[in-house]
Amino acid sequence: MEVVICSHPDHIGPIAADYIESLISTKPAAVLGVATGSSPLGLYEELGKRVAAGKLSLSRARAFMLDEYVGLPADHPERYRTFIERHFVEPTDIPSTSVFGPDGAAEDMEAACAAYEESIHKAGGIDLQILGVGTDGHIAFNEPGSSLASRTRLKSLMEQTRKDNARFFDDDIDQVPHHCVTQGVGTILEARHLVLLASGKGKAEAIKGVVEGAVSAVCTGSALQLHPTATVIIDEEAASLLTYASYYRFAYENKPEWQRV
Ligand code: GLP
Repeated sequence: MEVVICSHPDHIGPIAADYIESLISTKPAAVLGVATGSSPLGLYEELGKRVAAGKLSLSRARAFMLDEYVGLPADHPERYRTFIERHFVEPTDIPSTSVFGPDGAAEDMEAACAAYEESIHKAGGIDLQILGVGTDGHIAFNEPGSSLASRTRLKSLMEQTRKDNARFFDDDIDQVPHHCVTQGVGTILEARHLVLLASGKGKAEAIKGVVEGAVSAVCTGSALQLHPTATVIIDEEAASLLTYASYYRFAYENKPEWQRV
């Protein structure tokens, strides 16, 4: 795993954008995996700037979302689809029709989840998957106890996750849905490059679990340790509990050009 520790949280977005720019330079029709939450906002802003400057074009790219709430009306501003439209589609030149997400309103949820998996497969799989991490170490909405081989499915949200996300719902936990549909850990592990972003003290415990904890269904982000090409981009605060932080810093700063993650 490549751990990149940034001296300022504002550096996370540009570093992650470099990985996307480099992928698009060799594969303009790449398939991206996009995440919601506050962690990727700096990245999406940076992608928007590079598109506006003519340095980057996502016009031929496609993107698949990680997860979606179940039970929010189609016009709800906090639907993840709406979030991705606002923060990723609008600032860049990716066509809205090239962005796909799990259907949180499907009548036959099992069939819809299987169809979503199939659409990722048909697109050739995800080249680069952006991830955030929950305070309990979850990726997408794979809450503690999720199988590390899980696929896209309906999940119940933990009370802590609903509390964490209440900030997007007028600070009212009662407005946060109890269910979601999420790519599984097994689905995520099939992406060719995983790029996880996190900042702040509140994520230090989760990052400790992801990078240095035992691989466990209790902290589904720890499954990144099983992936051959995973990059974790964090700030000093999120890195503050890592035992080997100085080694990760050295390894990244002295990375030979030919070295893979
Ligand atoms: C939710 C999302 C995750 C995201 C997490 C962290 O649980 N389903 O994909 O990683 O929130 O969000 P934030 O980046 O706002 O801390």
